[in-house]
Amino acid sequence: MDWKSDQFARVKNQFTRVKSSSGINSIPALVIVATIAYLFGVLSSQTLFPVLRISQVVSKADAPKMLDLKTTDGFDDEDKFNHKPGEPDLHINPKPLLLTSPLSEDLVTFDNTDCKMDLGQELVRTVLLEKLFDGVSPFEDFPPEHVVDLLKKERIKGWGSTTTVFRRLMIEVKPRIVIELGTFLGASAIHMAGLAHELGLHTDILCVDDFRGWPGFRNTRFNDIKQKNGDVMLMYQFMQNVVSKNMTGTILPIPFGTISALSMFCTWGILADLIEVDASHDFHSAWADINVAHRLLRPGGVMFGHDYTTKADRQGVRRAVDMFARLNTLTVERDGEHWILRNQTTT
Ligand SMILES: C[S@@+](CC[C@H](N)C(=O)[O-])C[C@H]1O[C@@H](n2cnc3c(N)ncnc32)[C@H](O)[C@@H]1O
Repeated sequence: MDWKSDQFARVKNQFTRVKSSSGINSIPALVIVATIAYLFGVLSSQTLFPVLRISQVVSKADAPKMLDLKTTDGFDDEDKFNHKPGEPDLHINPKPLLLTSPLSEDLVTFDNTDCKMDLGQELVRTVLLEKLFDGVSPFEDFPPEHVVDLLKKERIKGWGSTTTVFRRLMIEVKPRIVIELGTFLGASAIHMAGLAHELGLHTDILCVDDFRGWPGFRNTRFNDIKQKNGDVMLMYQFMQNVVSKNMTGTILPIPFGTISALSMFCTWGILADLIEVDASHDFHSAWADINVAHRLLRPGGVMFGHDYTTKADRQGVRRAVDMFARLNTLTVERDGEHWILRNQTTT
């Protein structure tokens, strides 16, 4: 019995009791019973028709405390490990989820048609330059004059961006194409590019990010990332970091939302051997990113991401990864704070 029928049954019971004890048998009796039920809290506008209420008005003095403006930018450095970083930790998943209603099927239904035939690495960069940048590298004549004074020579900061999982996967997968969802200032992309050079790999790293950060990210330690007319310098500072590390031949910014970029990649046949998922960390975003990205994995490809065991996990990354693994009968492997899923198709 759901809560509405439960409430209704309780009111009906009271009505029957009043009716039989008092002999009242009319609409006014129902009104009396409803009023009594309301007064005793059995029935209320909140229980019958739950709505959001503004229960507290925050005073100006309390606002910074409530908003925690001084102490947080939304990402925590104090990460929690629950096993040693660098040591793979096989985590066997429980049985696949059972879908019991059409609604739950809606939740997990993504377009499962195959992506266009694999374009192959040789064409990927050319096609992307053509489609997104009028055939000219975004690094040409960089930086543009109007941002020169707004950039630092180098400003790199990430989260778990150089941990052992990167080296391990670069050695194992030897990727030709890496897609990174969530780049920020480029710490993890630059680290992977460095590993590719060191390992003698010819890898293209496609950095998908809208380069907006997240609401409020400039409130604390990133307030040195300049903003002009509402345009935050994140993409330019990331590009400047890439230029400063001399990695413009390996890394390419893809300045769009993750889902729209991945959908176009699928249409254009841009597939990847390695996909890092590290964009928005709320459940719905992570869930969508993981589902859509998985279609772009080449046979034997690997998808991985951060915040499986960190505080940010509270926001839903772990829930999304686990649910995806259970629905697809995959096993989540862990490496420090990172999760890893493998595409088990081999052809
Ligand atoms: C945690 S940071 C990435 C950190 C980076 N991987 C590193 O370790 O150095 C998350 C990034 O995802 C980007 N992002 C979040 N949601 C996005 C979305 N839906 N589409 C594109 N970018 C997104 C933000 O702009 C931000 O730069």
